[in-house]
Amino acid sequence: ASTLGAQAAQSGRYFGAAVAAGRLGDGTYTGILGREFNSVTPENEMKWDATERSRGQFTFGAADQIVNGATARGQRVRGHTLVWHSQLPDWVKGIRDANTLRGVMNNHITTVMNRYKGRIHSWDVVNEAFADGGSGQLRGSVFRDVLGTGFLEQAFRTARSADPAAKLCYNDYNIENWNDAKTQGVYRMVRDFKARGVPIDCVGLQSHFGAGGPPGSFQTTLSNFAALGVDVQITELDIAQAPPNAYANTVRACMNVARCTGITVWGIRDSDSWRSGENPLLFDRNGNKKPAYQATLTALGGR
Ligand code: G3I
Repeated sequence: ASTLGAQAAQSGRYFGAAVAAGRLGDGTYTGILGREFNSVTPENEMKWDATERSRGQFTFGAADQIVNGATARGQRVRGHTLVWHSQLPDWVKGIRDANTLRGVMNNHITTVMNRYKGRIHSWDVVNEAFADGGSGQLRGSVFRDVLGTGFLEQAFRTARSADPAAKLCYNDYNIENWNDAKTQGVYRMVRDFKARGVPIDCVGLQSHFGAGGPPGSFQTTLSNFAALGVDVQITELDIAQAPPNAYANTVRACMNVARCTGITVWGIRDSDSWRSGENPLLFDRNGNKKPAYQATLTALGGR
């Protein structure tokens, strides 16, 4: 096939992009979006500060725009994200009572998931809950500090009841290198969830890489998570300077792991990227394919 999405589909995978509602009026952008990708992730529009800025007042305008557009183009949608310490409104950060916060968290998960029930293939239920560095423990957040470490389990159980058809993912960055303490912490959590029957279906590895691309152990990490009985997904791929080999290595690692079900790049053109200074994506600011595009297509098995 001659596009990323169509080629990925030949092995039953998706190839997606993060999409910003504010760019949907740009014809170059939507042209590439419709042509190349068969999955989309709203870059910011489903986050807590976008969907429930005040308690109990839900706003879905921008997220609806992305989901409806994707549906019209025949693309699937990844949900991002329900429980995250960042882009979290102050009213949530200020809650000190556990019963109140548990109710607020469950209501947020249920309301957002219900809105898109049946239309989201995978949800990032919890994002970035583990600390950086060597501890392998959860980071401090209102959720951990008020509810304790059990907030993750609570979030996943609530999510399963809200939309039983969606794959429920834990998503994080810097969990690509097998030997990192953070990777090990997430691995232990997933193993524990599977052992105790807590619902979890996938691990999202964000994969924001430097110019060297993925660590040498990347494929091992993907296989080791998969061996726990979950899918793995590359959820926010971008690579400083976009070296073709670095993209090819990343894609090949996924292709080599049966349970690596899809790849999402975190934006379309370099100018759309949160790291635009590093030109980390597959299309240049004029919308032209970069060398990394061809390397990616080839690694997916295309030409
Ligand atoms: O919407 C406001 C706008 O009203 C305001 O005028 C403008 C001024 O700063 O800010 C706009 O909000 C920005 C928002 O993106 C939408 O463009 C925020 O400042 C900015 O911080 C926010 O950045 C996003 C970032 O998450 C926030 O943490 C990036 O676009 C987004 O790519 C990035 O994505 C995250 C993933 O969700 C999780 N993993 C890491 C990844 C990269 O940081």
